[in-house]
Amino acid sequence: MIANCLKVNEEGHLEISGCDTVRLAEQYGTPLYVMSEDEIRETCRRYVASFAKNYNGNGKPIYASKAFSCKEIYRIVLSEGLDVEVVSGGELYTALQAGVPGSQIHFQGNNKSVGELTMAIENGVGDIVVDNREELERLETIAMEHNMVAPVSFRIKPGIDAHTHEFIRTGQIDSKFGLDLASGEAMDALRRAQQLEHIVVKGLHCHIGSQILEKAPFVHAAEVMLQFFAKIRDELGMTLETLNLGGGFGIHYTEQDDAIPYEEYMGDVSAMVHSKCQELGLQLPRIYIEPGRSIVGEAGITLYTVGSIKEIPGVRNYVAIDGGMFDNPRYALYQSSYTCLLANKASQPADYVATIAGKCCESGDLIQEHTLIQKPEIGDLVAVLSTGAYNYSMASNYNRNLKPACVMVSHGESRIVIKGETYEDLVRNDV
Ligand code: LLP
Repeated sequence: MIANCLKVNEEGHLEISGCDTVRLAEQYGTPLYVMSEDEIRETCRRYVASFAKNYNGNGKPIYASKAFSCKEIYRIVLSEGLDVEVVSGGELYTALQAGVPGSQIHFQGNNKSVGELTMAIENGVGDIVVDNREELERLETIAMEHNMVAPVSFRIKPGIDAHTHEFIRTGQIDSKFGLDLASGEAMDALRRAQQLEHIVVKGLHCHIGSQILEKAPFVHAAEVMLQFFAKIRDELGMTLETLNLGGGFGIHYTEQDDAIPYEEYMGDVSAMVHSKCQELGLQLPRIYIEPGRSIVGEAGITLYTVGSIKEIPGVRNYVAIDGGMFDNPRYALYQSSYTCLLANKASQPADYVATIAGKCCESGDLIQEHTLIQKPEIGDLVAVLSTGAYNYSMASNYNRNLKPACVMVSHGESRIVIKGETYEDLVRNDV
């Protein structure tokens, strides 16, 4: 199985962290998101341990909550010693509601509104990651009005083209995110920040993309960023304290994904950080990384019930489920690969070629095409694996479908962490 939390039990059912998925479906209904708390905590601990090993604890992982945001996930990562990254007023609000101290929040985004920036200032957000010049000026004004000094870092485009889907690639020059290094845009913004009384620049940030399955781009990004650290010191006389190297570590969606153990990324990047700092005469900055997908992705699965099967001879076999692009839009958006199986027949051979189709009025509403599953019948339980990241967080109410509940499982116990929506929820804001 592609995740440690998964196994097939004696009844031939898929089990996640000791919970039989057939029982979960009976208890909570489908569609249902299921997340393994054990797996999430284990991954957090691996990242934290890597910081102890590679940087003597001078740094920490930050959970990029766009991957999966709800109150409980903030509580879990906080209790494992992580900071939290948010990218909107909504994520910020949820994190604060969950009890995350402002000082442990890093606020990203390429177009934060005045309202969002004000909320960040008023709640003592510890790191506002400035994306552009306008935002810098906006923030100075807001901080001045509040008689405060805003701690910021700068989002830099290091000019690195990581091999991943073009929609989730962000470190190259043609990107809407961040300040460009090569043209001097980033240096100009830092120079300007030096003149501002209500801004204190703590460090730099970069993020080169997502679902990256190679180490080299991360190592290269660290090198480029530290060279810029030295340039800032030399040209502006500024010593920056923090370097956030972003997230993007790839996970297993299928057995074919050659995901690198996180310790290996951490080790190679740390070797570069140490040697570059020495070469450039820099004091080792406090290092942050910002993983989202790799913390929650493999820990989550989605359960669906088969409602219809259409076998079109010579064409394909549609297996229709009670969810679809409204709870997982990733195949429709990026043609993402997934491993699908029948959770109630998990020990049977997977020799039936299926196209798993959703229930939205849209031909492109598919979860996976031509994938091998066990021979399906109406009422079977489909499990889609590695749906913990960017599924619930990207869900919608398209066709006025209801966003499913999310259950957290740990050591054979389950509990609801997000209630399933109701029809009343759907009309709550309608007038
Ligand atoms: N930090 C920043 C500034 C980011 O923009 C992102 C992701 C992350 C951290 C976390 O990256 P991760 O470790 O999760 O790869 N919806 C797409 C993914 C978009 C990622 C956007 N930024 C998907 O479903 O694949």
